[in-house]
Amino acid sequence: MPNSEISSLPVDEKYFDDSSSNYRAVHDSSLKDSEQFWANIAKELSWSREWDEVLEWKPPFAKWFTGGKINASFNCLDRHMDSEQKDKDAYIWEGENGDKRTITYAQLYEEVNHFASALLNLGVKKGDKIAFYMPMVPEFPVAILAATRIGATFTVVFSGFSAVALADRINDSQAKLVITSDGGFRRGKILKLKEIVDDALTKTSTVTNVIVLKRAGIEINMEENRDIWWDDAIKDTDDFVEPEQLESDHPLYILYTSGTTGKPKGVLHGTGGYLTYVYATTKWVFDIKKDDVYWCPADIGWVTGHSYFIFGPLLHGATSIMYEGAPDYPNPERLWEMIDRYNVTIFYFTPTGIRALMKHGNELPQKHDLSSLRLLGTVGEPINPAAWRWYYDVIGNKKCPIVDTWWQTETGGIMLSASPNLGLVSLKPGSATFPLPGIEADIVDEKGNSVGLGEKGFIVIKRPWPGMFMTLYNDSERYKQVYWEKFPGCYYPGDYAIRDHDGYFWLLGRADEVLNVAGHRLGTIEIEDAMVEHPAVAEAAVAGKPDEIKGESIVVFAILKKGYEPSEELRTDLFNHVRKVLGPVATPEEIHFVNMVPKTRSGKIMRRVVKAVASGTDIGDITTLEDGASVDEIKKTIDEFRQSVKS
Ligand code: WTA
Repeated sequence: MPNSEISSLPVDEKYFDDSSSNYRAVHDSSLKDSEQFWANIAKELSWSREWDEVLEWKPPFAKWFTGGKINASFNCLDRHMDSEQKDKDAYIWEGENGDKRTITYAQLYEEVNHFASALLNLGVKKGDKIAFYMPMVPEFPVAILAATRIGATFTVVFSGFSAVALADRINDSQAKLVITSDGGFRRGKILKLKEIVDDALTKTSTVTNVIVLKRAGIEINMEENRDIWWDDAIKDTDDFVEPEQLESDHPLYILYTSGTTGKPKGVLHGTGGYLTYVYATTKWVFDIKKDDVYWCPADIGWVTGHSYFIFGPLLHGATSIMYEGAPDYPNPERLWEMIDRYNVTIFYFTPTGIRALMKHGNELPQKHDLSSLRLLGTVGEPINPAAWRWYYDVIGNKKCPIVDTWWQTETGGIMLSASPNLGLVSLKPGSATFPLPGIEADIVDEKGNSVGLGEKGFIVIKRPWPGMFMTLYNDSERYKQVYWEKFPGCYYPGDYAIRDHDGYFWLLGRADEVLNVAGHRLGTIEIEDAMVEHPAVAEAAVAGKPDEIKGESIVVFAILKKGYEPSEELRTDLFNHVRKVLGPVATPEEIHFVNMVPKTRSGKIMRRVVKAVASGTDIGDITTLEDGASVDEIKKTIDEFRQSVKS
């Protein structure tokens, strides 16, 4: 974004008075002795052995609370068994079809113990990997907590990913167990999850068992000696399993996310540091109390589901709403109806979700009593001021602060956000405000020098924090190279940002070849690779274009191989092909057949050009398009490309 556009940031629109905010004082003091600061927070959790050292920092590898021993399920469950939380609801669940269930902390504890015992019976041990491919039903968190109880490392694959994507993740993580269900409900249809697992397992060799929950009640194939029904697995199991005392850096989970190559990155999180960070941020940002009714509709397949649906609220003994289905099913008032029904107090949603529901007008939310709400949040992508205002005015009835939370799978927890628990700073629609305590963030130019207020640059984090990932699973080289080499000594998240004249941070989207479609990260190269796997496609270039609802949508330019002609059938076939290889989340919005894609002399796709053509915007200054080619040559390439898109 050129500097001239800064004035278009609505910097003068402020909500809430910040005169009594403690944020700045807490942030300043947190950075003076950050190890002591984090140690004090970690002490609020239960450790079976205290740490020897708060931080062992061998850049770029950090180990938090070394020597300490801790268990995630103990902290989420056992800790509450001697308190009044015991008989409070941990989850209030609603199925898409209206089924209802509530589960108290005591019941959750019981179910987790039985399932942990079932895992032990199947020979799952500390350090083994378990892959999840599940619908949003209470057994999902049950099984995750059971895995953490025995020290198994879990990896969740979002149920909107394809069999190929699932197989890749199973192979990379070497999972020996898969937990799934016969099917799940989505928009009134049944997703045949077990069938997809069966397909994936034809391409893997490490899985010895599959546990299958009955949810949809459909006919499925059960492979003898491999597949076990959930109900059979928990028969005659123990009602108590001793939680494994795990080293603080024991791998809690691997979560795959897209990067700038075709191969997804396995983001590996440890236990003690991660739990401490998620615990602290849940408190600061959501100001969560034991009697809150908290709702984060994120699927557990995304990091938001890990940190702020499972661990954060459970560590605090809070009550969470869990919903199985689509937010607009059977109609776009489903969420408002549920907020009313359950008296939700804190609601943490996505800009895409807000925009999609906003489209239906004010009448639907206004039919319901939303007065229980006291705090709103957003995550996953920048929120545009119009959506922010609608959320504030219509959903929050002009009384609920909105916490715009910026973070990533890699950061483990929220990095930038207002923190009501520390006293709210004034809010500006579209700004994530400031770094949380303990987080030292800056915005730098290409050379790594801090830029001034009002100048766009790359956001960086200048010191380790407990929630940070430990490495990329099986690929520490890539970890170093992607995140730590661009600006030595700093963590590089890959986002553009700018600070306004009041010092507020505004996140401006990805600075790398990653798209953010409806809050989901997708690598352009991943989609290009999927395209060229189709027999008709010789080459492909992918770019994002702005989308009113999803933030960004996928545009593909494809060059066909000799012998193939563009046709509507082929286009449909290619849409289906990408869905099959990557899953419905990666479905392109447009596929264009072209004769060429613009490339530099060294053969790199000119991303900026492809993106500008996809979005119908100006290419801007082409003298910096690299590679020694003359401006005329580049212009010619661009014109040819444009021409071939038109024709
Ligand atoms: C984007 C999701 C602007 C950003 C928790 C980041 C945001 C990527 C925000 C991480 C926000 C997330 N404002 N952009 N509040 N939150 N992003 O790993 O580009 O799925 O790098 O984690 O989402 O996506 P991820």
